[in-house]
Amino acid sequence: MRIDVITLFPEIFQPFLTASIVGRARQAGIVEIHTHQLRDYSQDPHKKVDDRPFGGGPGMVLMCQPVIDAVRAVESLDPRPALRIVLTPQGRRFDQEVARRLAGQPRLLLICGHYEGFDERILALLQPEELSLGDFVLSGGEPAAMAVIDALVRLLPGALGNEAATEEESFEGARLEYPQYTRPREFAGLSVPDVLLSGNHAAIAAWRRAQSEERTRRRRPDLLGPHAAVVLNVSGWSSAGSSWAGSVSSASAREQFSV
Ligand SMILES: C[S@@+](CC[C@H](N)C(=O)[O-])C[C@H]1O[C@@H](n2cnc3c(N)ncnc32)[C@H](O)[C@@H]1O
Repeated sequence: MRIDVITLFPEIFQPFLTASIVGRARQAGIVEIHTHQLRDYSQDPHKKVDDRPFGGGPGMVLMCQPVIDAVRAVESLDPRPALRIVLTPQGRRFDQEVARRLAGQPRLLLICGHYEGFDERILALLQPEELSLGDFVLSGGEPAAMAVIDALVRLLPGALGNEAATEEESFEGARLEYPQYTRPREFAGLSVPDVLLSGNHAAIAAWRRAQSEERTRRRRPDLLGPHAAVVLNVSGWSSAGSSWAGSVSSASAREQFSV
């Protein structure tokens, strides 16, 4: 897979692209990621890329020429057609489902805005997919582009050491992940649930499933769909705790550990 990023701040990406899972995936040749300085494509003698908005108002707007020329030039660097993505607070909310879909693409082109955003004609001409990280306004598309890249790279085959790692993570199968524990067995008077130390894999799997369900119902019932409340009553689950026999605690790990 190849990912190109058009940005006014390529330097922001450098540590991100060389560290951790993304860095290792690049080194292993699983993903190729290139950043491109938008200013390099400006035809203005001073490399200007923005101008004041028609109609007045605060801030500056990214101009058509540098962005359109940058997209054309960057796209011509590889014969694979790129799925164009503009990062914008006005786009579709990015989530795990979108990450999975993007991870299946051969090539992506991420376009980061800045200032007051893009001249609307850029969007009309490029017809990109518009993605938002959430209902808040960032100063630029760079953190959003990094979040998109990180979320999809970890889904690429071979990017994580343990392939199973993504299968049980939050949002896979519309559930939050179960609570996790590691050594020591006791910390600050809090014990690891006995079932996790039992060596009984079937019991561990059942406990995790139950915890995952309970946690999702309590924290994110929206993931379970509009009928979640009905199912909750039928199955006997309550917002106070798990109905699973032998559950260590009705409180979530985070609640237990709050001090
Ligand atoms: C200050 S914002 C522009 C906001 C724009 N004036 C508006 O109100 O919709 C500058 C740039 O940051 C990026 N950005 C800001 N918030 C974002 C979000 N929630 N998701 C993705 N990108 C975002 C976009 O690339 C945007 O063009």
